[in-house]
Amino acid sequence: MTLRLGDIVPDFEAATTEGPIQFHQWAGKSWVVLFSHPKNYTPVCTTELGYTAKLSPEFARRNVKAIGLSVDKLEDHHGWARDIEETQGAALNFPLIADPDRKVANLYDMIHPNASDTFTVRSVFVIDPNKKLRLSLTYPASTGRNFDEILRVIDSLQLTDGYKVATPVNWKNGEDVIIVPSVNDEQAKQLFPNGFKTIKPYLRTVPQPKP
Ligand code: BEZ
Repeated sequence: MTLRLGDIVPDFEAATTEGPIQFHQWAGKSWVVLFSHPKNYTPVCTTELGYTAKLSPEFARRNVKAIGLSVDKLEDHHGWARDIEETQGAALNFPLIADPDRKVANLYDMIHPNASDTFTVRSVFVIDPNKKLRLSLTYPASTGRNFDEILRVIDSLQLTDGYKVATPVNWKNGEDVIIVPSVNDEQAKQLFPNGFKTIKPYLRTVPQPKP
């Protein structure tokens, strides 16, 4: 199934390291980062999961729940979790889905047969509290993802949901943002009474509104 931005993501039942879940119910009113990794007991995946565990306060601050997935069995997840804690200095603090029959992997198109017909690629899905897909990324098995970038996108999504702004290249939380083109100058004066900068009529910047 091809998932596109704005789609309601499919629901599923799955076994996880924190017990069985019904995905939509588990997500509740939180944002979700659902990500697949190719295989347990592999080095890149070990670093990704350890780093994601360390980011737990950052996820919590943004009302985000993380959940990983691989096509390994639940008992393998438990054994590998001990290695992650030992080698990465952080214990897993989010669920890992065990998907040996590839039910969820197929539902979310996480297996790309021309890359590998056995393992999932490194997919990332950022899902909002309305269960809508807001970002999808696909990385190859050999490249570990940048989870700080995923947090940066979530900051942008949460900000731009609340204000008529967009975020420029390489933007980081706290930096100036762009007034969206659908807002004319008169409206911009109302929305941003402390002023904004017009670099071109279509390129206007303003200090980041406080979320
Ligand atoms: C890894 O996680 O280290 C990995 C997994 C599959 C292929 C290459 C690397």
